[in-house]
Amino acid sequence: MSDRFEELEERIEELLERDHSRKRIKDEEYFKVRQLAFDNRTIRALLKLFNKGVLDDLTWVVSAGKESLVLAGRGPEGELAIKIYRIYTANFRKYLDYIVGDHRFPPVRNRDKIIPLWAKKEFRNLRRLREVGVRVPRPVDVVGNVLVMEFIGRDGVPAPLLKDSDLEEPERYLSEILEDIRRAYVEADLVHGDLSEYNVMVWEDHPWIIDVSQAVVTAHPLSFSLLLRDLERVTSFFKKQYRIDVPDPYKLAEELARTKEV
Ligand SMILES: Nc1ncnc2c1ncn2[C@@H]1O[C@H](COP(=O)(O)OP(=O)(O)O)[C@@H](O)[C@H]1O
Ligand SMILES: [Mg+2]
Repeated sequence: MSDRFEELEERIEELLERDHSRKRIKDEEYFKVRQLAFDNRTIRALLKLFNKGVLDDLTWVVSAGKESLVLAGRGPEGELAIKIYRIYTANFRKYLDYIVGDHRFPPVRNRDKIIPLWAKKEFRNLRRLREVGVRVPRPVDVVGNVLVMEFIGRDGVPAPLLKDSDLEEPERYLSEILEDIRRAYVEADLVHGDLSEYNVMVWEDHPWIIDVSQAVVTAHPLSFSLLLRDLERVTSFFKKQYRIDVPDPYKLAEELARTKEV
């Protein structure tokens, strides 16, 4: 056990060093990412995923953000994305606001308990969205603050984000995303809550929605304003970037909300 622990630490060290020296990780992020990756709880969770046979290898650092580190890896069935959550104190309130009011989760006020809950929340949201046919990465497993899901992209290279893509059929993409928002709301009872050109990937000629940890149930007190904001961001992106006609986000939000009225 302790051998594997050290082995894994070394493997992560290697990845971070390599991707840092190739400038895939910015200097200012490097320290924070190291801190997260070498948190004992993170290593223990990763080790458990190796022992369970879910993970065989870690291969690349895909994204090193403030709130999460995403690695590429391999499992028995192919490439995987491994998202490791970090919740820093300054943002703690925001997390509470999203979890409090969601009947699926117990009221938690303790920081150490909320991080794994956050990973679990994204796992469940992914599963629920997939069930109703929204294109999201297939969730594979979750242990502690580490979520494993299908890799969107190939050979450790993630698919481009919507913001960096040059679409040939922007109208179709917009309508597919709007249909995803509708299905999520009406059929899965969920509002993404942070949808924008930064959280949609373009892969195999379709939009893929990612980053659903903060999604809330439609019964949540913030759900209507979050729904409206998602619709506003998506429509205004297409309007600005592609200069196409877009529907009125407020009307769309009201139409959707009406389906929930009894
Ligand atoms: N399943 C996935 N497959 C491939 N790349 C992914 C996957 N999930 C996330 N990524 C990459 O990691 C980045 C950060 O992931 P995201 O879930 O948006 O977390 P956050 O924005 O909280 O850091 C994304 O912009 C994307 O490039
Ligand atoms: Mg994101």
